[in-house]
Amino acid sequence: MEKELLFSRSDIQKRVKELGEQLSSDYAGKDPLFVGVLNGVVFFFADLMREISIPVKIDFMRAASYGSRMTSSGEIQITKDVEKPIRDRHVVLVEDIVDTGNTLAFVLKQMNEKDPASLKVCALMDKVERRQEEVTIDYAGFTIDSGFVVGYGLDYNEEYRNLPEIYVLKP
Ligand code: PRP
Repeated sequence: MEKELLFSRSDIQKRVKELGEQLSSDYAGKDPLFVGVLNGVVFFFADLMREISIPVKIDFMRAASYGSRMTSSGEIQITKDVEKPIRDRHVVLVEDIVDTGNTLAFVLKQMNEKDPASLKVCALMDKVERRQEEVTIDYAGFTIDSGFVVGYGLDYNEEYRNLPEIYVLKP
C-alpha cells in the first residue's frame, strides 16, 4: 500500500524531547509511575522515558479491542493488567494514539478504581476525527484530523510497526 510521510524521525525526536522535559518538570518530586498501554506504545515509551530526567518507575498493561484499529468495535478487554500497586501513586498513562477514545476511556475507568493519587494521560497522537468518548489528553505529541497512520509502533494488520517515521496510508 502507498504511504506518505507525516512525521520524520527528527519531528518525532524533537516533540518527544519536549514532552519529556514538560513531564520532568511537572512530576519533579512526585516519583511518578508511567504505564504504557501495549503493544503499539513501546517505541514511543522507550524514547519518552529516556527524555525524562527525574526518577520514574514503569509498568505496562494491554487493552485488546475486538477487530482491527480500522474497525475498532468498542469492545475492550484488559488482557494484561499493571503489576505495580497504583494506590496513592502519581500515574501517567502512555498511549501511542487516541482515536475513538474507547480504549482510553475504558483504561482510565479501570485505573481510577485502583485509587491513584493522580491520573494523567500522555499520547503521542491525538486523532480527533473519530472521537466517540470525551477523554482528556493532558500531554499530546501531535494532533491530527484524519488519515490512517502507521509506523513508530502503529500498525495496519500488524505491519509497519518497525518504521522509524510516521506515515499516512493511502487507500
Ligand atoms: C491502538 C492504540 C490505542 C487504541 C486507540 O491499539 O494503541 O490503544 O488503538 O484506538 P481507540 O481510541 O479507537 O480506542 P490497538 O488496539 O490497535 O493495539 P496495539 O497497540 O497492539 O496496536
